[in-house]
Amino acid sequence: MNLQEHARLRDQFPALAQQVNGHPLVYLDNAATTHKPHAVLAATDGFYRADNANVHRAAHALSGRATLAFEAARETLARFINAPHQREIIWTRGATEAINLVAQSWGMSELKAGDEIILSTLEHHANIVPWQLIAQRTGAIIKVIPLDERGDLDMAAYRALLNPRTRLVSVAHVSNALGTVNPVAELVAAAKTVGALTLIDGAQAVAHLPVDVQAIDCDFYVFSGHKLYGPTGIGVLWGKTELLTRMPPWQAGGEMIDRVSFAGTSFNALPFKFEAGTPHIAGAIGLAAAVDFLLAQDRGAIANAEAALMARLVTGLKQIPGLRLIGEPMQRSGAVSFLLEDIHPQDAATLLDMQGIALRVGHHCAMPLMESLGISGTMRASLACYNNQDDVDALLTALHKLSDFF
Ligand SMILES: Cc1ncc(COP(=O)(O)O)c(C=O)c1O
Repeated sequence: MNLQEHARLRDQFPALAQQVNGHPLVYLDNAATTHKPHAVLAATDGFYRADNANVHRAAHALSGRATLAFEAARETLARFINAPHQREIIWTRGATEAINLVAQSWGMSELKAGDEIILSTLEHHANIVPWQLIAQRTGAIIKVIPLDERGDLDMAAYRALLNPRTRLVSVAHVSNALGTVNPVAELVAAAKTVGALTLIDGAQAVAHLPVDVQAIDCDFYVFSGHKLYGPTGIGVLWGKTELLTRMPPWQAGGEMIDRVSFAGTSFNALPFKFEAGTPHIAGAIGLAAAVDFLLAQDRGAIANAEAALMARLVTGLKQIPGLRLIGEPMQRSGAVSFLLEDIHPQDAATLLDMQGIALRVGHHCAMPLMESLGISGTMRASLACYNNQDDVDALLTALHKLSDFF
């Protein structure tokens, strides 16, 4: 991708063109959330302006159009992750809600005392706490895959944890704090040898890596729309039909039923069984627009440009006196964590913000990971397709100044 092509891509994101604190915005907090291209803004705005109606319910024209667009969005998302059936795409509020759905529905109905759930040290709290709640209620036990000194999963330790009591392995595709890309197909294949199910938290993967759920062969895959250039409040749980069919509903209300009477209620078919109440219609349509936007790009060229930018960033960070990289995984995507000697991350972030540079400091909702590293938090820079060399160089220059000053 040449500079002009990249500039055209970046121009699609209006929020990037602003000044912050008197400086051009340098947005490097993409692991928290990404900005939205014109196509997404137009799709959500267009829905509310013209087609606004509830879905699946009314006989009128607007409801027909809304329902068509809403279900077409589901089809787009199925194509995006190569799901075999669009009924396997369940709309949720995001990755967090998708994991809670599996924990509450599958976990509460399937797990019993002594069953084991394997997580990893680098999980986001969204893939820890739902399982802790279920473990407390069912007596299931949580086991944790440790990391090696680079920040990669210790695969030998993982294999040693697997046993016939293992019912589920639930791990991130990409770490939000360290950027580690986990070998998900290998993790899934190993889990299958003991008959365990697998859930992959793709929140940090979908914007960066091509995801093929059939190739990974996991049982569940979850992600959020807002980290994928789509709206907030919408995300996806993908699961295999056979499993989703067996799982009981978790939230109840309209849309998820077939027939209701006070003598008893029967439930709707997939995917509606898991979609109680009025869904985030504009969100689903906006997310499909984000996916269409991404699929219309040369994703290979974007991935190469992002990898080159990450290499420039990591190389530059290593040259800053007093800067310590936190984690150097074999394969990195999206994020890099670091600490500056003698300056608190929060102070550094405030000084960077005064120069228009947005990045994230803290535990990144990964407190167990921070504890295992013996630190309370890091500074994290995270990239998206629209970041360019100017962004990376602005951060490096500002960090050099901080390092000189302190
Ligand atoms: C790896 C990972 N999983 C889950 C989540 C939760 O995503 P959300 O808050 O959009 O539900 C995040 C958010 O940062 C994440 O990075």
